[in-house]
Amino acid sequence: MSDRPVLFVTRKLPDAVETRATRDYDAKLNIDDSQYDAPALISNSAEADAILTCSTEKFTADIINQLSARVRAIATFSVGYEHIDIDAAKARGIIVTNTPDVLTSATADVAMLCLLGAARRQQESTALLRADQWGRWDATSLLGAHVTGKRLAILGMGRIGRAVAKRARAFDMEIHYSNRSRLAPELEQGALFYKNPDDMLPSAEFLSINCPSTPETHHFLNTDRISKLPDGAVVVNTARGDIIDDEALIAAAKSGKVSGVGLDVYEGEPAFNKGYLDLPNAFLLPHIGSATVDTRDAMGFRALDNLDAFFSGATAPDTLT
Ligand code: DGY
Repeated sequence: MSDRPVLFVTRKLPDAVETRATRDYDAKLNIDDSQYDAPALISNSAEADAILTCSTEKFTADIINQLSARVRAIATFSVGYEHIDIDAAKARGIIVTNTPDVLTSATADVAMLCLLGAARRQQESTALLRADQWGRWDATSLLGAHVTGKRLAILGMGRIGRAVAKRARAFDMEIHYSNRSRLAPELEQGALFYKNPDDMLPSAEFLSINCPSTPETHHFLNTDRISKLPDGAVVVNTARGDIIDDEALIAAAKSGKVSGVGLDVYEGEPAFNKGYLDLPNAFLLPHIGSATVDTRDAMGFRALDNLDAFFSGATAPDTLT
């Protein structure tokens, strides 16, 4: 019998991560990436000392309260942790960790991809080629939103928001931001701060959502707030889908109030609002922000670093509880 901690891994993870998990833990892998519902999460963790999960599994208070008393740690392979009831875990003495930093650049890259793709009408343009309907070059078709010199408003100026700002500065964009607290000057780098995000919206020729999903940010971007955006604004979301009221954004993209939408995340994903598919001016990706080989390996290693620290008796660096 092994004296290594038993680790229940809820999803298929990159090979390098599974190899390390198997080397250092008595790892119960999900080789065929089966989808575990609540009873399966509970039963599979019966013999586990720790759980390595992803943002696709919801650890509600109800589920956490039914986990075996043996479970002492939940490490999520994500920076977002809205899928785990932190208070319930804390109440049971279970530590929870996430994977900050390692996915910052990959996610910020995808935010710029969404921004440029939405501004420059990539999906409409490529659809013409795929349908073999490209006519003569002309001076008036497929005109998009100009990026250089425009105002980019960033909601949530944490690591990813700041990495988006860094990239956008290279496009000569003027950075505005709203965050719970104002950044120090060396992090702010001349960006204009708004304590109240509503006050930032009239400046948002481009709006990038980079804040966490919390009860306070749920449906932040609703009809009322969209009305405060400049006409023809471009909206980008690479954070969490539920920060946007989809019906409100779809209506605004149809009316032209919003000229482009760039989304990597959706409320209720993967069952997203299919109204987006009818929008020619929507640039849509299936939550690939962190999807590079390097980043996904780094996320797994970071999650395992946290578990290693915890089981060696130290405080795991990314402890949230
Ligand atoms: C994250 O790490 O939060 C990514 O969005 C994947 O869930």
